[in-house]
Amino acid sequence: MARCLVTRRLPGSALDRLRSLHDVEVWPERLPPPYEELVARAADAEGLLTLLTDRVDASLIEHSPRLRAISNYAVGYDNIDVEAASARGIPVGNTPDVLTDATADLTFALLLAAARKLPEAVTDVRDGDWLTWEPGRYLGASVHGATLGIIGFGRIGRAVARRASGFDMTVVHAGSGGDAVETLLERSDFVSLHCPLTPETHHLIDDDALARMKPSAILVNTARGPIVDQDALRQALIAGEIAGAALDVTDPEPLPADDPLLEAPNLIVVPHIGSATRAARERMADLAVDNLLAGLDGQPMPHRVNAAS
Ligand code: DGY
Repeated sequence: MARCLVTRRLPGSALDRLRSLHDVEVWPERLPPPYEELVARAADAEGLLTLLTDRVDASLIEHSPRLRAISNYAVGYDNIDVEAASARGIPVGNTPDVLTDATADLTFALLLAAARKLPEAVTDVRDGDWLTWEPGRYLGASVHGATLGIIGFGRIGRAVARRASGFDMTVVHAGSGGDAVETLLERSDFVSLHCPLTPETHHLIDDDALARMKPSAILVNTARGPIVDQDALRQALIAGEIAGAALDVTDPEPLPADDPLLEAPNLIVVPHIGSATRAARERMADLAVDNLLAGLDGQPMPHRVNAAS
């Protein structure tokens, strides 16, 4: 039996499977363990099952001498110092595929909501401001037939492209085999981000990138918050340099209710819910547990992000 730390309760029954084989501590709170608490509790752990809200850095790994497997409950793993784990020969797993469709669906929900001004229309109904049928109110952008630029053409980017074909959109993409990002920004009516957060993609969408976009364009981000320079985005929205933005991810998360970004017009922000369907979150838990069990057994993880040493 290995000692495992799981940093939150997870949907479904996957943790029961882990508990039947190992000695499992589950952090019971709604909020994540504070960093110092995480380090203290991980100190004697052999297996760690973490969330994207947990910072698993070199120092934590150094202070966890028994650690043999790390499994992240997310496809993204920018919260983990993978290099430090690799240096110790610790396998790191993630949960791709099972959340692809849920995230692509939410991307399209955000794109449509921003294009067709759903938040202000909903608010007006609730506020009693639906006075009559008005020819010139709530005029949004056409999604059908528009050009969608996808930055990051991996699993989720491709799933978004498949949905776009149902709307007869022209899809352009940047990344391997695709357009240059600059060209994509200039051509697209909608720009959707699906690249991982790396030093190269940090603030990829900065004031220069936003200035290249059409004034009628809408930015959608369901990837990671720091890919967008939020100050630049705020200014671009206020100045009307782009027509709108819809974000599932922000920097920081959670975004404080008094963050200046929220003063910008034509902005939708939702609280990182891309994978939030019951099916996706339960399958993520299954996969995260599969990864952890395999890592603790010295078997190949079904989804390992670092090379086996
Ligand atoms: C991920 O998996 O990386 C998402 O951001 C959350 O499901």
